Order: sequence, then structure tokens, then C-alpha cells
Amino acid sequence: MKATGGILASEQPTRVLSFDADSIREDFPILKQLVYGKPLVYLDNAATSQKPTAVVDAMTHYYSTDNSNIHRGVHLLSERATQQYEEARVKAQGFINAAASKEIIFTRGTTEAINLVAGSYGRANVNSGDEVLITAMEHHSNIVPWQILCEEKGARLRVAPINDDGELIIEEFAKLLNERTKIVSLAHVSNALGTINPIRAIVEIAHRHNVPVMIDGAQAAPHMKLDVQELDCDFYAFSGHKVFGPTGIGVLYGKASLLDAMPPYQGGGDMIASVTFEKTTYNTLPYKFEAGTPNIAGTIGFGAAIDYVNQIGIDRIARYEHELLDYGTGALSQIQGLRLIGTAKDKAGVLSFVLEGVHPHDVGTILDREGIAIRTGHHCAMPVMERFGIPATARASLAFYNTKEEIDALVAGIHKVKEVFG
Ligand SMILES: Cc1ncc(COP(=O)(O)O)c(C=O)c1O
Repeated sequence: MKATGGILASEQPTRVLSFDADSIREDFPILKQLVYGKPLVYLDNAATSQKPTAVVDAMTHYYSTDNSNIHRGVHLLSERATQQYEEARVKAQGFINAAASKEIIFTRGTTEAINLVAGSYGRANVNSGDEVLITAMEHHSNIVPWQILCEEKGARLRVAPINDDGELIIEEFAKLLNERTKIVSLAHVSNALGTINPIRAIVEIAHRHNVPVMIDGAQAAPHMKLDVQELDCDFYAFSGHKVFGPTGIGVLYGKASLLDAMPPYQGGGDMIASVTFEKTTYNTLPYKFEAGTPNIAGTIGFGAAIDYVNQIGIDRIARYEHELLDYGTGALSQIQGLRLIGTAKDKAGVLSFVLEGVHPHDVGTILDREGIAIRTGHHCAMPVMERFGIPATARASLAFYNTKEEIDALVAGIHKVKEVFG
């Protein structure tokens, strides 16, 4: 599939064939390599996904022909760069069905987006004695910014518990909401467990208490159709590099009414309307939150990634990945001594597990020699590990270019680990 230039996703044909991972893999040259003489089996997609040629080409094209700073220039290169940057914003708007492109703030990624909300909305609205409500399955990126805020303000971080399958206990979550709660922030999909949270229902409960909801969508955006208007969430964050785009670019979606009322997060160029030594006035949305020269090439590459995903079709991706997940869950469940961590009824493509008598790090190291890339450790979710009473897990995470044969290779690799550790 070729780079799509400035063509909008809606104008592009969707691939019509039934899901053909082999043909899709042609778009990802990196997957063709051998690792220690074995075909690479890349199952670390929750950490970062691979980039199709269309994304690499779009960035190369930008640097080769259009490289220039945006928004400020009167010359042609700057106009072209600005146009492509702003086109990417419209693509991101369409990707999550935001009501307006000014509700899309470009950030470095999910982490920065959450820090932005904690640092701006949080600082302005959370005071001494107030509460911030998160869940026990959060990534550190959705814990630490709120802890910093709570420490600064003398507020309290409350944590809604999860059950043994790794599902949020909704009744307990609801009980924790009260008149002191100033914001709820939780993952759409857990990176360590794969749990998909029922966001629409959670937002409804929080809104009954007039509490806004921020969603960490880092692990949802690559795998499922998103509609922030339907979810009715107040903020939604995700990272380009997990959606087959480059690193260093992500999105904070916020309802315009909330973003408008929030103070700036960082000061600098582009976020101002006028500056004197006496007083600065701020730019309109979304620029108020985009201080300094942004990641222009990354944003354009991100736009190409959205086009690419749209061409395949996110619903088809979700269906295929679900098939793969079912297949993997069945296969791994049959391995004696293997315990899956995260067995929620509603799950995205994460297979987190521990193997009796073997440290996850050893599992990962032996699999690596078989050409199989997985992640081992706490997955930046140490409280999740604590909840399950384990130091770490081995985690295989799926993308649409993975195949059942690759899951078979993972299973064979795990049997090899068992042999080694006898
Ligand atoms: C659930 C979740 N939240 C937040 C993040 C942080 O994303 P980033 O490092 O792209 O900012 C990740 C990354 O793994 C994640 O899985």
C-alpha cells in the first residue's frame, strides 16, 4: 500500500478481501527479518507497533520535499507543511469521531496528554480535601500525574478495585464517587491484563455525580472503533506509536467547553495571541495547548497511519484480532503450569502469563533466541502485579499482522522454556 499524501481517509477505498494477514505483512518490511536465524515473531505490540511503508514514506516525503516550520511562514514550503499538519488533525478527529478538529490537541503521546489534563484541569479544579478516582489496573502514566497533583493540592487519590479476572468492580467504583470527587481517570483497555472497561456505563455513572471522566485510550486506539461523542467521555488520550504511527506524537481529545476553560499547560511560541511584558493573552483552541514547534514529521506520519488503518478497516481489525486472541487463549490454556493473568470476559489482544517455576524474564530471554519478541516485567503497572501477588508477567500482545502460525510458534517456544527448566 502506497503513501497516501494529502488524501483524506473518507476518500480511500477499504480493502475488500477477507482478512489476509499475509498480504498485510507485505506492508511491514521489518517483519521479514530473521532474528538469531529464525523468522521474527513480533508479539510486543502493546509496547509499540510496527510501521507500514506508507507511514515511513509519508515522513520521508515530508523531509525530502516540504520540511519547514508551520503556522508562521508565508512561503510555500511552510504552507504545505502547515496544511499537512492540520490535515492530520482532521484525520485524528475522524478517527475518534470528535465533534470538532479544535478538540484535538497534539501531544508527545498518552503520557503527556494525561499530564496536561492533571496539570491544567487538575490544578484549576482539584483542591485540598478533594478526590481523584482511578482504578487498580492503571498504567503508571495514569497514576503518577494524579499523585503529583494530589500531593501538591492536599487531595486524595482513590483507587477502585478489580476482581481476580482483572475486571473493574463497577459497584465498588460507583461507591467511591462522592461530592469530593473532582475527576475520574481510567484505562479503556488495560495494557497488563487486556481488560476492556465498559466506558460508556462508567461515564454515565460519573456524570450522574457531575464528575468529568478522562480515558487513557493507549491500548484501545489500535484495536477498536472509537467514538468519543458516543462514549461521552470528557477527555481521551492515545499515542500514535501504538497505532502504527511514529513515536513522539499523540492526541489529547477534550470537550471544547472544558478545554476552553482550562489554563495553558506550557507557555511559549504558538500558544499566544499577544505578548507584552505586562500581559499575555492566549491563542484559541487547539493552539493554546501546543506551545513550541511541534513534531511536524511525526504528526504527518501519524496521519498516514490513520489512513492506513482506515483502509484496512478498524472493525475488521477488531474481528480478526479477537479470533487470534481466542486462538491464543485456547492454546496457552492447554500448557501445564501456565497461568493467564487477565481473564476478563471482554478483552483486547493481550496474553499475559506466568509459568510455574520460571521467572518471566527467563521466559522472554529464551523466546527471544527463538525469534519471538514479547515483553516481560511489570509493564509499568506495578500495582497490578501487586494485586495478583506476582513480581512480573510475560506478555504477548497482538496486532492485525500477527498470524495463528505465530501463536503456534509462541506455544512451541514456551514448551522449549519448560524443557530448559525441566
Ligand atoms: C494503558 C497505557 N497507558 C499509557 C501508556 C503510556 O503511553 P506512552 O508511553 O505512549 O505515552 C501506555 C504505554 O504502554 C499504556 O499501555
